[in-house]
Amino acid sequence: MISRRLFLASTAALAVTPRLALAAPQVLRAGVTRAQLAPDGYGDTEVWAFDDRIPGPDLRVAQGARLARRVQNDLPVHTAVHWHGIRIDNAMDGVPGLTQRAIEPGESFDYDFVTPDAGTFWYHSHQHSMEQVGRGLKGPLIVTEAEAPDVDRDLVLMLDDWRLDPRTTEFAPFGNRHDLSHAGRIGNLITVNGVFDWRAGVRAGDRLRLRFINAASARIFTLDLRGLDTWVMALDGMPLTAPLRVDFRLELAPGQRVDVIADVTAPAGALAEVVSLERDGGYSLAAFDVAAGGAARGAAPVALAPNPVARPGDLASAPLYTMRLEGGAMRGLGPSMHEGRLTEPQDLYAQEKFWALSGHVDLPDIPVIDAARGDTHRIAMVNETAFPHGMHLHGHHFHVLDADGGLGPLRDTVLVAPGQTRQIAFVADNPGDWLLHCHMLGHAQAGMKTWYRVS
Ligand code: C2O
Ligand code: CU
Repeated sequence: MISRRLFLASTAALAVTPRLALAAPQVLRAGVTRAQLAPDGYGDTEVWAFDDRIPGPDLRVAQGARLARRVQNDLPVHTAVHWHGIRIDNAMDGVPGLTQRAIEPGESFDYDFVTPDAGTFWYHSHQHSMEQVGRGLKGPLIVTEAEAPDVDRDLVLMLDDWRLDPRTTEFAPFGNRHDLSHAGRIGNLITVNGVFDWRAGVRAGDRLRLRFINAASARIFTLDLRGLDTWVMALDGMPLTAPLRVDFRLELAPGQRVDVIADVTAPAGALAEVVSLERDGGYSLAAFDVAAGGAARGAAPVALAPNPVARPGDLASAPLYTMRLEGGAMRGLGPSMHEGRLTEPQDLYAQEKFWALSGHVDLPDIPVIDAARGDTHRIAMVNETAFPHGMHLHGHHFHVLDADGGLGPLRDTVLVAPGQTRQIAFVADNPGDWLLHCHMLGHAQAGMKTWYRVS
């Protein structure tokens, strides 16, 4: 049968992706091309990609600078680009139907925005996301600090999960009812930076900055870093106030990022590895070949400079919106509002709508929060479903509140386990209409999305 093992079992040689030296491109072209996602010995895959690359080009910009790209749509379908985690001008957020019209085939759209925060972000299609992101329309967006931390290497590791038909190595069909109503489109091939067997050379003692981005449609990664002494430096682009030593595993929901600083403790001649922990064992996702010649730092890393995010006001008096996460297999929906009408579950399922937020399937007519600019708001996300959900706010980062109500780390995507309630708080200081949705892209497509307004 078709399984990821088919890929993982093969002893793939390192796939070398040619890196073309391009003059600073002002155009970011979305088009159809082919890429070698599967291990050597398997065929390549027709993908949808930015600038013919999987992942798309590594966009780098200094904190506070402008990023301008003309997105040229050479796809056979409409598209739009969302800059995930950037606290952006609303008109540049890339959400068809809310902030812009989708870009028609043959047309282009000029994105131009300031990047207020330094950190690890990413960009991806926001039109029919499950299919378009699932076919490859995504890439890293790195906003650099004025003062970079003291490291020997700064590496992006974009984690991805593809579902291919192993006989043809083309994409399996998108959007079956089972994916939409269960955990989403879980793949059968995991890549790092678009290759099956990603490797890099390092030296014993080197200090690495590793920027993990979970670009998968649905898979939650649980990472174990071996041969590395690791500190978490930032979550979803936002620095922690103090580096957090990793004596536990790193979990990344779709959409989330984790920046770590990792000292290579594996000796010369050995391998350091990033291992993905799964029900049936651990799989090496990325390997570092360790050579001699590095020099250990000895001291723990110092925190990255904080980003200019407004600190929430008094939480107890801040409005609290309770958002119930509803639906999916094993729970189902009750009669829910959809396109302005109360709709029976069987009619929703017939339209492949399986999820709701507080009784609404897809975007309600009015925003769930109508915030005055500058006010602090809270949202309690109550997961009444049988599945985890990675809930993402556009336009703002938020604090995840800890068990005793204190301000936890800043994030733009929070994982809410089945039965769990997570409360978040943020200062609504970025005007516009913003999406709030599950980043398991099949769930969003099947109804788990809403919006809020800041004016
Ligand atoms: Cu990363 Cu609404 O998306
Ligand atoms: Cu979800």
